[in-house]
Amino acid sequence: MVTAYDYPSAMHVARAGIDIVLVGDSLAMVELGHITTQPITLDAMLHHCQAVRRGVQQAQVQEEPLLVGDMPFASYEYEDTDVALRNAYRFIQEAGMDAVKLEGGSVARARTARKLVEGGVAVMGHVGLTPQAISVLGGFRAQGRTAVRARAILDDALRLQDAGCFAIVLECVPSNVAAAITESLEIPTIGIGAGGHTSGQVLVFHDMLGMTSHPHHEQFVPKFCKRYAQLGHIIQEGLQEFKRDVESGAFPSDEYAPYQMKENERRDFE
Ligand code: KIV
Ligand code: NA
Repeated sequence: MVTAYDYPSAMHVARAGIDIVLVGDSLAMVELGHITTQPITLDAMLHHCQAVRRGVQQAQVQEEPLLVGDMPFASYEYEDTDVALRNAYRFIQEAGMDAVKLEGGSVARARTARKLVEGGVAVMGHVGLTPQAISVLGGFRAQGRTAVRARAILDDALRLQDAGCFAIVLECVPSNVAAAITESLEIPTIGIGAGGHTSGQVLVFHDMLGMTSHPHHEQFVPKFCKRYAQLGHIIQEGLQEFKRDVESGAFPSDEYAPYQMKENERRDFE
């Protein structure tokens, strides 16, 4: 699974044959420049999901990836689970998502997941580090590092499976904890910063492709993220070369000045 947030990234991910495209609320950080995922709204998420849906459709691949939309902070936590269901339906009906993802595995959260599944919405769970709860967790840091906490995360995962989730993201937990959870579940786990013993893996598009190379963003790229490309450097080189070319007059050469007048028009004009 890889995240995508817009038409071009969705097309790239689909054409690479990635199984699942996640429209992650990480877009609040990597696309919109917020320092947490909390500010992104439901309407903003749907706007991005719609672009991703078009990108996947127009990628013209034989087998379209599964499209999962992240339900944002404040769109599904209320005790009245009707709110979550109504919001989940918007992801399906207005944005063409195949499934939604929720963070957390408390008893209350599992009740919400069950409500959505009973309402016909496929739900992916997400336990371990749940970034929407940053204010409560106190920072982006690994979870489940004591036996008691690890057991609590396993309980969360089991509750979500029981509620009908079809897969669960395990974020930033020790490898042995992720392995034990994966072993205990019948549904697949998808790890991020959770070692190599989960059923699948997910990375954030901008992080894995080295999209940003400026120091401000660099500090947020987690150490578990392998860089498969250095797009930030390529983008910088291209932009700087354009600037040099325009200033020197090298661009546009005749090759890039394609529009000509007919000879008689030109005589009249000149
Ligand atoms: O928002 C996101 O990108 C995510 C993944 C890291 C799982 O939730
Ligand atoms: Na997310």
